[in-house]
Amino acid sequence: MRESAILDADGVSKSYTTKDSGPHPALSNVSLTVAKGEFLSIIGPSGCGKTTLLKICAGLLAPSTGSLSFKKRPGPPRPRSMGVVFQTPALLPWRTVRDNVLLPAIIQHADRKAAEVRAVELLEMLNLAGTADKYPFQLSGGMQQRVAIARSLLLDPEIIFMDEPFGALDAMTREKLNIEVQNVHARTGATIIFVTHNISEAVFLSDRIVAMSAGPGRISSIVTVDLPRPRTANSYVLPEFREQERIVRDVFDTAATS
Ligand SMILES: Nc1ncnc2c1ncn2[C@@H]1O[C@H](COP(=O)(O)OP(=O)(O)OP(=O)(O)O)[C@@H](O)[C@H]1O
Ligand SMILES: [Mg+2]
Repeated sequence: MRESAILDADGVSKSYTTKDSGPHPALSNVSLTVAKGEFLSIIGPSGCGKTTLLKICAGLLAPSTGSLSFKKRPGPPRPRSMGVVFQTPALLPWRTVRDNVLLPAIIQHADRKAAEVRAVELLEMLNLAGTADKYPFQLSGGMQQRVAIARSLLLDPEIIFMDEPFGALDAMTREKLNIEVQNVHARTGATIIFVTHNISEAVFLSDRIVAMSAGPGRISSIVTVDLPRPRTANSYVLPEFREQERIVRDVFDTAATS
């Protein structure tokens, strides 16, 4: 394990047991080391095991074989050290935006006063100031997803797992939120593991991109993205961005057909 490593997955496999058809191998022998502060994306065709790998890394699912370590300690991160954002914002409809963001503090029995101060900061950072007393149904899909991101950041996690958080949003909103996520990464220094189907999103955000292939899921290649930061709305049209996208698309196509 490298000196700067924060999360290490070693030979992780997962087989789901189904009643009708017996064991279903979803992941096979995945080994991956994530560096502290890294932005790492996972791409691959539908069903190749991205969510399974993310859930195992977050400790939400046990691997069938293989092991994990977080900061050199065996096992996944403690809930207190991590944030999770899923494809759907999963906000509680009967709680205001502020109270949704405060949920992790309640679950983890963290200091309420400090959490309230942090919640105000996070709502500002994610351009949600003014929505604190609103209910989720009063917000757009993009705003709801930003609330989910604010909630994931409440306890200053060292690592954040995001599973296609912007999959349901239109392209313009998605590009804006990618800039927000980049800001979050730059300001917090957190390690982020981000699952996406979207190649330009992966290139825009990542330090490295892990391409997975199916049958059963495994890592087919890892691409390093050497574009300078911060990346901006203009980055998408730069020749070096297009070239990086092309490289990742080739890797993705090979993974999808292998
Ligand atoms: N709880 C489960 N029980 C049985 N099989 C499962 C379960 N969850 C996932 N699978 C299977 O494991 C494989 C990997 O699923 P997973 O959800 O990890 O893929 P994915 O890459 O995230 O797909 P998508 O891009 O569509 O979200 C798939 O074949 C899926 O059908
Ligand atoms: Mg998935």
